[in-house]
Amino acid sequence: MKKILITGGAGFIGSHVVRRFVNKYPDYHIYNLDALTYAGNLENLKDIEGKENYTFLHGDITDENYITALFNTHQFDDVIHLAAESHVDRSITGPLVFAKTNILGTMILLNAFKELWANNWADRQFYHISTDEVYGTLGETGLFKETTSYDPNSPYSASKASSDHFVRAYGETYGLPYVITNCSNNYGPNQFPEKLIPLFINNIVQKKVIASLWRWEIYPRLVVCYGSCRCD
Ligand SMILES: NC(=O)c1ccc[n+]([C@@H]2O[C@H](COP(=O)([O-])OP(=O)(O)OC[C@H]3O[C@@H](n4cnc5c(N)ncnc54)[C@H](O)[C@@H]3O)[C@@H](O)[C@H]2O)c1
Repeated sequence: MKKILITGGAGFIGSHVVRRFVNKYPDYHIYNLDALTYAGNLENLKDIEGKENYTFLHGDITDENYITALFNTHQFDDVIHLAAESHVDRSITGPLVFAKTNILGTMILLNAFKELWANNWADRQFYHISTDEVYGTLGETGLFKETTSYDPNSPYSASKASSDHFVRAYGETYGLPYVITNCSNNYGPNQFPEKLIPLFINNIVQKKVIASLWRWEIYPRLVVCYGSCRCD
């Protein structure tokens, strides 16, 4: 049975990815590793918590000893890495935890994966979920491509850009098979209400001031979350 580690699976996008894999691939065992920070919520996965091919692991990707032991115990075939500090505004008021989780945490996962499979990469994959914010800001027109130069503007996007570079470097240096995705902002069910759309909806329901309109300019493209989670 293939063993797939999904990190950050109690969060917004991760919970949809976990549910999809658990339901669609009964022959795979899905391990959901999440530290349950303010952004993680197991209520997002109530409907699948009793499934035989699903295990929740409460742990921190920045804890190297824990992660090394976990990889040795479970011998994960593939990793889908979503765990991150993900809110730009928080990265401006407290950037250090973004470096720790998004850069160091990604490196610790990469290293554990490499130590396990470095001599046998066949049928392995490290799937790294990044963001289009690594490319900077678009104007009224234009688009980002995979060849666009990195130009991160916030501590969040700088930490994600750095993690992308480490994923690529592990690919080049050790032959680690990887995919990096750089998608636009998502919205949808289970999103933490600090993000734009749920914040607006909550404020409207509570008859509060919505938010200053200039913020729309930094969210030019929104993707409904189900689109990001489909992988088939
Ligand atoms: N939401 C978006 O619009 C968007 C767009 C592009 C890319 N992304 C990327 O997709 C991924 C998921 O985003 P999201 O919006 O679902 O995030 P989220 O903040 O809703 O969820 C992040 C999850 O990671 C967990 N986590 C945080 N630190 C951890 C740690 N040290 N160890 C283990 N788990 C930890 C949290 O508990 C939470 O469950 C992130 O990597 C993010 O950068 C998000």
